[in-house]
Amino acid sequence: MNFDLTDDQIQIRDAVREKCAAEFAPHALEWDRDGEVPRTAVAVLADQGFLGMTVPDTYGGLGYDSRTTTLVIEEIARVSAALAIMVAVHNSVGAYPIVQFGTEEQRKRFLPGLASKDLCAFSLSEPDAGSDAGALATTAVRDGDDYVLNGSKNWVTNGQHASLYLVFARTGDRASRTKGLSAFIVQRGAKGLTLGEPEDKMGIRGSDTVVLSLQDLRVPASQRLGEEGDGFRIAMSALDTGRIGVAAQALGVMTAAFEQAVRYAQQRHAFGGPLAKIQAIQFKLAEMERRIQSTRLLIRRAAWLKDVGRPFTREASMAKLYASEAATWVTHQAIQVFGGYGYVKDYDVERYYRDARVMEIYEGASEIQRLVIARSLLKDGVAV
Ligand code: CAA
Repeated sequence: MNFDLTDDQIQIRDAVREKCAAEFAPHALEWDRDGEVPRTAVAVLADQGFLGMTVPDTYGGLGYDSRTTTLVIEEIARVSAALAIMVAVHNSVGAYPIVQFGTEEQRKRFLPGLASKDLCAFSLSEPDAGSDAGALATTAVRDGDDYVLNGSKNWVTNGQHASLYLVFARTGDRASRTKGLSAFIVQRGAKGLTLGEPEDKMGIRGSDTVVLSLQDLRVPASQRLGEEGDGFRIAMSALDTGRIGVAAQALGVMTAAFEQAVRYAQQRHAFGGPLAKIQAIQFKLAEMERRIQSTRLLIRRAAWLKDVGRPFTREASMAKLYASEAATWVTHQAIQVFGGYGYVKDYDVERYYRDARVMEIYEGASEIQRLVIARSLLKDGVAV
């Protein structure tokens, strides 16, 4: 068993770290305050090829394996969780399902743009169907060579800026539940597609989250992803990959909070010495480190299983569940170490705490991850 990164992975990680420190770190606070990551920041990552991490080089991407992709997401999240989720969603639940389930014609048509400049969004949730994704009500009715889509989607990350949307809609009747869903590739600017205003969120404020309204939106049948009825399987499979990405995002945020807490504990004096000499603080730091390292191992294992082509649904859920809960815990403790200073916006830990909270919610709430893990172990047995 080898826990070391390869030389290539170290080089990629260090290059991203340097880029993020130089280009993004000075602006992360302002993005949070203004509620917007500028397109120029995405363009910097696009120039490095990071919009194409999950896209094979045949279609213009970097073709990274999952372990390498998580390293990049983690590094971006150490500086800006908002930018990290934009890139993670685009790569994992946006471009990758087209790699996995697209026809050759769809791959050739859509992937080069996604790998180089265009953002992609994932539209599964609806006002009345979040955790229960199989209950979604948006309809797609076949009409000649088109489908006509009607409905409303919400919590769409990248919704405002995306060039392409993966939209899940019902082609079967309501009773067909998960068996009656299909996936569609919808282009920005399509007639009948209306974008709502970005949500005013607690955290990851720089990433845009919008409602999509679909009204008599015509999508050519050639833009259906997979077969009719494959939609739920495609969405779940995309989310398996996405959940490893969210875990990496959580790891980046908690690592940043931890590093700042350690530094502060060494510099700040109380009771005649640095905070770091006080056992109550040492125990906090030790526990933070334990959760960070445990998260890292769960992510590496889930990503490795994916890379070697083995089932990884359970492990992706475990990584996402553990990472997101660890991130809210670690960022909470980081504020505690900073005391009152941690509660004001002059210090990054305040932002990290707000940013971390959503990770227990999006791409499947913690309760859903526990459900996925339990169902998997009861069906396939306990891992040894
Ligand atoms: N891969 C492939 N197939 C899968 C699968 C997976 N990971 N998980 C389930 N399936 C298949 C099952 O095998 C089953 O197939 P059969 O009927 O042929 O056996 C079928 O899908 C239905 O599965 P379930 O019976 O388990 O379905 P369910 O209705 O009980 O729901 C659930 C399961 C796990 C709760 C699922 O609904 C779920 O994950 N919900 C959460 C959705 C979610 O994460 N939403 C986030 C949206 S994105 C977002 O947050 C915003 C953003 O912009 C990123």
